[in-house]
Amino acid sequence: MESPQRGPQFRSPLSAPALSSLSLEASGPVPGWNNQLEVLPDAEHLSAAVADALLDQLLFPQARPLGLATGRTVVAVYAALRQRIAALAAAERARLLAGWRSFNLDDYVGLPRHDPRSFAAEMEARLITPLGLAPERVALPDGLAADPHAEAERYSAALQAAGGIGLQLLGLGNNGHVGFNEPPCEASQRCHVVELDAATRAQNAAAFGGDPEAVPRRAITLGLAEILAAEQILLVVSGGAKAPILKRLLQEPANAQLPASWLQHHPRLRLMVDRAALAG
Ligand code: GLP
Repeated sequence: MESPQRGPQFRSPLSAPALSSLSLEASGPVPGWNNQLEVLPDAEHLSAAVADALLDQLLFPQARPLGLATGRTVVAVYAALRQRIAALAAAERARLLAGWRSFNLDDYVGLPRHDPRSFAAEMEARLITPLGLAPERVALPDGLAADPHAEAERYSAALQAAGGIGLQLLGLGNNGHVGFNEPPCEASQRCHVVELDAATRAQNAAAFGGDPEAVPRRAITLGLAEILAAEQILLVVSGGAKAPILKRLLQEPANAQLPASWLQHHPRLRLMVDRAALAG
């Protein structure tokens, strides 16, 4: 899993003391995932391990941009990352922040950047403001663009121009989506405008007063094509509510009805889960 171009600051995830490895025999068959699965005892250890991986990438000067996600799973990850960045020596922190380049997966169509329910506002609150990042270093698709389809093309082109994703952080939707790639979806699909599933709008309703009907109907999302082109992928799954979809993911071959399943053949995938998510 270690990349040869890594600088000396790279820490192998396997050196993390909290990491416990799973006996595949004990948990049943997990075809295709044997080498990628990492089980952490709880959400706190999981967030710490993911934040370590993000920091390693940010400290690596030649790294391609980070691919970032939003959602409840990554809230604690970003808190742990903020702590790690705050603990750096001033000069190193300044260098890291000045060199920051990230592309988010997705945002809703129709919400302005400053709408607190937009993913842009989420990034502002979790990373841009607390770290003092220059906002233009944290790219997201513009949900208010007059032509969302043209915006999806522009965003994909901007990502290509930046060299593509280095390390891609992903959460997992209850219906198996990554980003907002809803089932069914092909691995070749690029950044696009998507009609959100009823299940997704229900999953994300909490930010909209609990009303799924208030959740925007469309979003712009990077496609599996851009995601699979990342050098490394961290798919992070936390909590018992994700147990049913994680179980499917571990058991099914790659298929369009389970978008995250396309990731399983990526050469540098880490599927990082906590015990609660694995309970199924
Ligand atoms: C959301 C986002 C995804 C996110 C996923 C899981 O709808 N579009 O990028 O990873 O669903 O969300 P959560 O972490 O809140 O369960």
